[in-house]
Amino acid sequence: MSPRPPLKAHVSAPEPGDPSGWMFLQRSTSTHSACLSFLPYKPPLPSAPLFLLPLPSPKMRIPTLPLGHPPHPPPLPSLGLGTWKAPKGVTAPVVTAALRAGYRMLDCACDYGNEQEVGAGISDALSAATVTRDDIFVTSKLWNTFHKREHVKPALLRSLADLRLQKLDLYLMHFPISLAYTWKAMEALVDEGLVSHIGVCNFPAALLMDLLSYARIKPAVLQVEMHPYLQQVNLLELCKREGVQVTAFSPLGASSYVELNMDRGDRLLDDPVLKKIAEKKGCSVAQVALRWGVQRGTSVIPKTCKVERLGQNMDVFGFELDKQEMAEIAALDRGTRYNDPGVFCKGMGHSIPIYD
Ligand SMILES: NC(=O)c1ccc[n+]([C@@H]2O[C@H](COP(=O)([O-])OP(=O)(O)OC[C@H]3O[C@@H](n4cnc5c(N)ncnc54)[C@H](OP(=O)(O)O)[C@@H]3O)[C@@H](O)[C@H]2O)c1
Repeated sequence: MSPRPPLKAHVSAPEPGDPSGWMFLQRSTSTHSACLSFLPYKPPLPSAPLFLLPLPSPKMRIPTLPLGHPPHPPPLPSLGLGTWKAPKGVTAPVVTAALRAGYRMLDCACDYGNEQEVGAGISDALSAATVTRDDIFVTSKLWNTFHKREHVKPALLRSLADLRLQKLDLYLMHFPISLAYTWKAMEALVDEGLVSHIGVCNFPAALLMDLLSYARIKPAVLQVEMHPYLQQVNLLELCKREGVQVTAFSPLGASSYVELNMDRGDRLLDDPVLKKIAEKKGCSVAQVALRWGVQRGTSVIPKTCKVERLGQNMDVFGFELDKQEMAEIAALDRGTRYNDPGVFCKGMGHSIPIYD
């Protein structure tokens, strides 16, 4: 694959070996360095152990949620594969395996530093006729350093090139750094036919209401951290009222933050109430947490790089949590937010307290 021409904007991506993306926030905002990764994609060896692992069978179908005002295609699958911290070398085969297993939504971001690998995984699945482009829903996100009006389109084009796509199904503003002029530039991407839907991440209710007050194209999706320890009932209620679909990130709670030493010790997957429900249902605690998410009407995007977990994580549409179980889980809410740049950026010399 030949290297692509550099973008004129401050286009940055996490450097190889920085899977978290958090250091990238500091680097890119403090130095505005252009650190484009032009590493060519190296396909994994066909003998990689991932290919030997069994895939779920038979294929499960994932329900969808309508998107847009008024709703228009494509709709949002209720469950997709998260890709944050998915390392290079593993990402492509996992994406291909996920699409083979029946996943239809991929949650990506420029900041994750692995969109080239996701693109390779999609491309492999398309070449093998596992899926067609119309079967799948691909989301990416505008990173914080590209909020200037003239940077938005180049940033999107970069993600499209890395993902090897002509068009995105959903483009999200990754963090509420600047709003009005950035949103206008994102609306222009819809007008140009480069993305089907636009939305936002990490917006609290007040910022969302502000955006709704002036948006020509209203956000189709709000993607926020949401799990039984951070239920955000009022925000969810607002979104339902306004026709904004909610995607729950980190649906497995602290799990994603253990490797970053940001888990604070209270592990959702060890919760006794969830464990009891899981035992009763004969499923895993992760499945209970994910089922709770989809049953509240949100979409969920669990990340795994373990092929053996792909089937388990998407197998949440064949059972229901009853009223009593939903009430027991509702009582677990404790407002624990792991993904707060007001906290994690402190160690990097500057805090971005978007929730204060
Ligand atoms: N918009 C934003 O600002 C934002 C922020 C954070 C995340 N996201 C998106 O949301 C996605 C999901 O969130 P997340 O990655 O933070 O967390 P998550 O999906 O809740 O949890 C992922 C962690 O749980 C493990 N895991 C997955 N399935 C499991 C299972 N069945 N049993 C036990 N452990 C399991 C994974 O390990 P293995 O890989 O080893 O299985 C990984 O360590 C991200 O990947 C990303 O796409 C968006």
